[in-house]
Amino acid sequence: MRAFSHQPLALAEVAQLLWAAQGVTSAEGLRAAPSAGALYPLELYLAVRNVDGLPAGVYKYLPEVHRLKPWAEGDRSHDLAGAALDQDFVRRGVIVIAFAAVEARTTAKYGERGVRYVHIEIGHSAQNALLQAVALGLNAAVVGAFDDQGVEHVLQMHRSEQALYLMPVGKR
Ligand SMILES: Cc1cc2nc3c(=O)[nH]c(=O)nc-3n(C[C@H](O)[C@H](O)[C@H](O)COP(=O)(O)O)c2cc1C
Repeated sequence: MRAFSHQPLALAEVAQLLWAAQGVTSAEGLRAAPSAGALYPLELYLAVRNVDGLPAGVYKYLPEVHRLKPWAEGDRSHDLAGAALDQDFVRRGVIVIAFAAVEARTTAKYGERGVRYVHIEIGHSAQNALLQAVALGLNAAVVGAFDDQGVEHVLQMHRSEQALYLMPVGKR
């Protein structure tokens, strides 16, 4: 659903969404979504506009410790929606989860076929987050139409990372 209320999300809800997408689920470090060769090429960023107890800004999700690393200060929702070809509902999500990948982690082992694997993995991870959003009674939408470099710039992604999918989330 591309409609969100202005109500804030709770930090616990945000944590649960990120865990479902890419959290660690076993002592060996395996994660909530499958990964070819367990190479885990995905990186998740979180753009926060309105979350209780979390200042607006960009954060990076650290699966191994289930924590958010502050990445950049300030509300980026306007810039992010601009980079997403002015799709206005992106601005109205109280958070946007940005799915990125370091393709080389997978192509180093699997060659060109690794690109396919990375894209499949993004689908697994995003679907987990979508199902978790439904379970929490939240609305979430998915966005693949955006200017790659624009999104990577707004979220200050590493050069090795490629922005692949955006997911604005909010209360119903
Ligand atoms: C890879 C992919 C990219 C998408 N990109 C966008 C997008 O940029 N903007 C948008 O509004 N919806 C986007 N969608 C959502 C589809 O438009 C939506 O899933 C479809 O209309 C069916 O609606 P439903 O998912 O609500 O059932 C995307 C979906 C997928 C799978």
